[in-house]
Amino acid sequence: DLMREALGLKELEAALQEQLGIPRVIVVAGDSDRSPWVKKEMGRACVACMKELLEPGDIVAVAGGTTMAAVAEMMTPDSKLRDVLFVPARGGLGEDVENQANTICAKMAEKAMGRYRLLHVPDQLSDEAYASLVEEPAVKEVLELIQSCRMVVHGIGEAVTMAKRRKTPPVEMENIIARHAAAEAFGYYFNEYGDVVHKVKTVGIQLEHLPHVEHVIAVAGGASKAKAIRAYMKRAPHSILVTDEGAAKAFVGE
Ligand code: G3H
Repeated sequence: DLMREALGLKELEAALQEQLGIPRVIVVAGDSDRSPWVKKEMGRACVACMKELLEPGDIVAVAGGTTMAAVAEMMTPDSKLRDVLFVPARGGLGEDVENQANTICAKMAEKAMGRYRLLHVPDQLSDEAYASLVEEPAVKEVLELIQSCRMVVHGIGEAVTMAKRRKTPPVEMENIIARHAAAEAFGYYFNEYGDVVHKVKTVGIQLEHLPHVEHVIAVAGGASKAKAIRAYMKRAPHSILVTDEGAAKAFVGE
């Protein structure tokens, strides 16, 4: 903690809490845009925060992305995580396998020595196939577990960067650009005011569930994500934010 004081991280945390109007911000040193290890530091900080808040028997819904992959990588076993069940927050969003919530959920649970359940729902489905799949008992059971989670952990992305990475079809891409999407989180795209301007159709956690989830942790850093974080946080007033100095200084400098 002395180290954090010396680096001025505590002041940054306090400034961000006030600017974003959220109860808790954790800032790690460095800028993950420039130094890849900073993402792991955010992962480490997120893991510590999860362990502080989780209780045996809790269900944790885990989203996708490279930042969440770093959280999984930094996970370690802990008596607090005994009997914790990890589930993916949502079904497929068009990501490569290493960035999918299923993959990250399984990895995180293994590192935590906890349990996990996966969602086997393909990305591109017709409405009919979709409607019948969510009625399958095995899928339905996992969806119910997801909906009863006590914690959600997710990343925040810059909207166009995310849409490109997911090879979003041209029509949807045009919509995302035309409606000035600034942020993306668990398959929702938001403009700078925090309004939803596009949504990837998939099962699992929906935005309207979030206010009912006890602990929501968003993990996102790098100066390039400052605008996205600000936009998304308009929608998530009870979230905890784990970020880095790069993003934090970009806010304060504005
Ligand atoms: O779902 C993806 C996140 O919104 C951001 O992904 O952590 O790879 O930047 P990232």
